[in-house]
Amino acid sequence: MEFSEFQVPTRVVAGRGLSTSIDIELQREGLTRGLLLTDAGVRPLADRVRRAAGSRVVGVYDAITPNSSVEQVEEAARLARELEADFLLAVGGGSVLDTAKAAALVFTEGGRLLDHQGVNVLARPLLPVAAVPTTAGTGSEVSIYAVVRDENTGTKVSFISEHLAPALAVLDPVLTLGLPPGLTAATGLDALTHALEAFLSVKAGPLSDALALAAARTVLRELPRAVVDGSNLEARWRMLTASCLAGMAFSWAMVGCVHAMAHACGGLREVPHGLANAILLPHGLEYNRPAAGDRFGILGEWMGADPVEAVRSLAERIALPTRLREVGVEEADLAALAELAMLDGSIYANPREATAEEIEAVLRAAL
Ligand SMILES: [Fe+2]
Repeated sequence: MEFSEFQVPTRVVAGRGLSTSIDIELQREGLTRGLLLTDAGVRPLADRVRRAAGSRVVGVYDAITPNSSVEQVEEAARLARELEADFLLAVGGGSVLDTAKAAALVFTEGGRLLDHQGVNVLARPLLPVAAVPTTAGTGSEVSIYAVVRDENTGTKVSFISEHLAPALAVLDPVLTLGLPPGLTAATGLDALTHALEAFLSVKAGPLSDALALAAARTVLRELPRAVVDGSNLEARWRMLTASCLAGMAFSWAMVGCVHAMAHACGGLREVPHGLANAILLPHGLEYNRPAAGDRFGILGEWMGADPVEAVRSLAERIALPTRLREVGVEEADLAALAELAMLDGSIYANPREATAEEIEAVLRAAL
């Protein structure tokens, strides 16, 4: 038996409308002075959560953008210090949650964000983060990763430590009801990519496997329902759960070449993360097929079809783009994207040892 490691440092609470009683959960964690982090798009939802948190929120920072930047992280940390915050309350999608986690790092450790790159470089607990996802896909509410865009180099920078896992995750499907079909589809494919890459990873273990398989099957079944009818609370609920399960799975099992390429596309061309994954997933899976052993067969049983076919037909049903050129990537970008992907931490857990030429070929197939 191979060595494997698994831990979920986050307390997860889940329920319909739960964010309206978040005060009780914050109290249980002993959190009293929070800076609320959000983006302008979800500000109305964040304001609802803020009202529920009452006097426990003492400030708001809502300037976070998709593919959030180092500058935003450092600005949020500075504001939290000014306010003498004892926690960060993150209400939003993956960028908001990752910004909060990275800001907690800067708040506690000091210095510049980029001083702290690397795996497991953090030795002590950080400022606690309470994460309230408003999309179902990133899994950031439980993951030990934070990914931020360095605007100076046009690259995505990853931070990995169990100390980055939020202290509390509040899963409330009501907050995802208003997510438009396109975003629902793209973020849902991010969750599916986490599940499938975690299952195929060289770091997969028995516990991450169970979570990944459950998440993959749920996304296949529930995502089309959530896309077609955004007000379907049951489908929203199951997608939020699947996203969380996939987040737990890939926290320790890691992801693979699809994420390495998606990070490159997000860094260089600011392609939204979910869309990049959605486009690249069937191509990355096909590339990994020869190295997957019996794992493709197991996935096929769980997904009810060959994994590549299952992913393609899902993407078609929910009308996602299937070509990188549809999201702003050009042929002239491919070599640079392959180079960036080879430098991305996710590539190390990929089941097939990749070369830059092979990754460029995968990107070309997806162009
Ligand atoms: Fe992802």
